[in-house]
Order: sequence, then structure tokens, then C-alpha cells
Amino acid sequence: MPTPIVSTPSNPPGPGDDPRCIPHKLNAPLPVGDECPYPDYTTEEQSVWRDLYARQVELLPGRAADEFLTGLAALALESDRIPALAAVSARLARATGWRLARTPGLLDAHDFFGYLARRIFPCTDYVRGRHELDYTPAPDCFHDIFGHTPMIMHPRFADFYQKIGQAALACTDPAVEEGLTRIYWFTVEFGLIRNPGGLRIYGNGIISSSGETLHSLTDQVTKLPAVPERIAAQPYDIWHFQDPLFVTGSFDELEAEFVRWAQAHRLL
Ligand SMILES: [Fe+2]
Repeated sequence: MPTPIVSTPSNPPGPGDDPRCIPHKLNAPLPVGDECPYPDYTTEEQSVWRDLYARQVELLPGRAADEFLTGLAALALESDRIPALAAVSARLARATGWRLARTPGLLDAHDFFGYLARRIFPCTDYVRGRHELDYTPAPDCFHDIFGHTPMIMHPRFADFYQKIGQAALACTDPAVEEGLTRIYWFTVEFGLIRNPGGLRIYGNGIISSSGETLHSLTDQVTKLPAVPERIAAQPYDIWHFQDPLFVTGSFDELEAEFVRWAQAHRLL
């Protein structure tokens, strides 16, 4: 069973001692924007990106949210080579004022949310191995760049994402923190939206996984309204396809509902 890959920092360590699964506690700021060097990728790494991109982009029409496809087109991510974080960061900055920072892997929760609160998305620049096309236990640059950055091009989603970071930094109650983690999981990573054309995916954990993309819209998955109180009460299992999933009507609604929930808990 392929497992969705996520960059939420709440992931418990994955199988074995894979260092990609252990959150980093930062003792120095991450490089941001133009400070991110372009790695010396091997031909094989570039070809993994090319194959992942080609396979996933074919699945998106009729499945991915209009807002995701618009963001993907506006970003003009390279399909034949791994995009440079500095270049993607500059495109994001022009659209929504967000930037990318280069992270060595999963980040400690406080560090991660601290960056989101400042409209900076910590992004990996390494790519999974060819044996991991269907499954990788930790985020890689296909998940982070292809999956996450198109949504950050959308102004309402971009604001919502920043508010998650701000709310998380203000959170001191472990029970509320658990609810916030679940909201992050079932929106940013596994959210669905009702577009004019029908039910669509905007969650990055789905969009960067071919198996989850095909599975998520089927009748095998229960769809519930994206009410924060309901989501906050919903446990999740990172090792299986997600069920239920939560559907929002729009990103205006998603942001307004989140602000209502966060203010009720004195987080915003
Ligand atoms: Fe993620």
C-alpha cells in the first residue's frame, strides 16, 4: 500500500532509521530564495523528476483543483529537470509574497511553523530514488515543489497557510495543537474542494502520490464537509490511504472557517 508523503512536521519517524524521517531542530537559519544553491544533480536524479512529473501531470486533469492547475501553469515548473528553488521562490514572491527556504528534511514543528508564519515554505531539494517512485517515507522535492508550491500561488490559500503557522506558534494547549495538526493534515495535505466541474483535489499529499490521486475521489472514500471542529476530532493514520476526506466549498470559506476556529481557541 503506497503511503502518502507529507511535510507536516508531526510525522513520527518512519520505517527503520531513515534520516529523512527525523525532524531537524535548526540551530541556524535556512537559506532562503537566492541563497539556495542549485545542487549538482545526477542524470539519474533528473530522470526520476522527469518520470514523476510525466506520470503525475497525466492524472491531474479532471482530478486536481482548478486553483492547483492554475498555480502549476503560472509557476511553469520545468518538466524535464528539477526546478531551482531560487527560481521557484522568485515566482512565488511575485505572486503571493511567499518564498522558499532550502530544508535538509523534515523540520522540528516550531521551526516549520515559524517559517510558515513568515510566508516562507521550507522546501527539500533532494529527490527520491527510482525504487521509491510510488512510495517514500519523507517529503522530497517532487512532493514539496510539484505538490505544494502551486497552491501557494493562490492568494487565499497562501493567506490560509500563513495563518496556520501563526496559529501554531500561539498554541500552548496540547489538545488544541493536536486539532491543529489534524486540520493541517486534512487540508494542506489531503484536502478536497468542490469546483464548478465537480469534486477536485488540492491536498499535496494526494497530488504528489499517484495511488492516492486515483483512490481519493472514488466512492470508497467518505467525503465530509471541511468544518474545523469536525476535522480536529478526526484521527489519521499515515500508513494507509486517507478515509474520510474533507471537502471545502472554496478557499475563501476554508480561510474564514479556520480563522473562526483559531480565534475561538485564542490562536489568532
Ligand atoms: Fe507536504
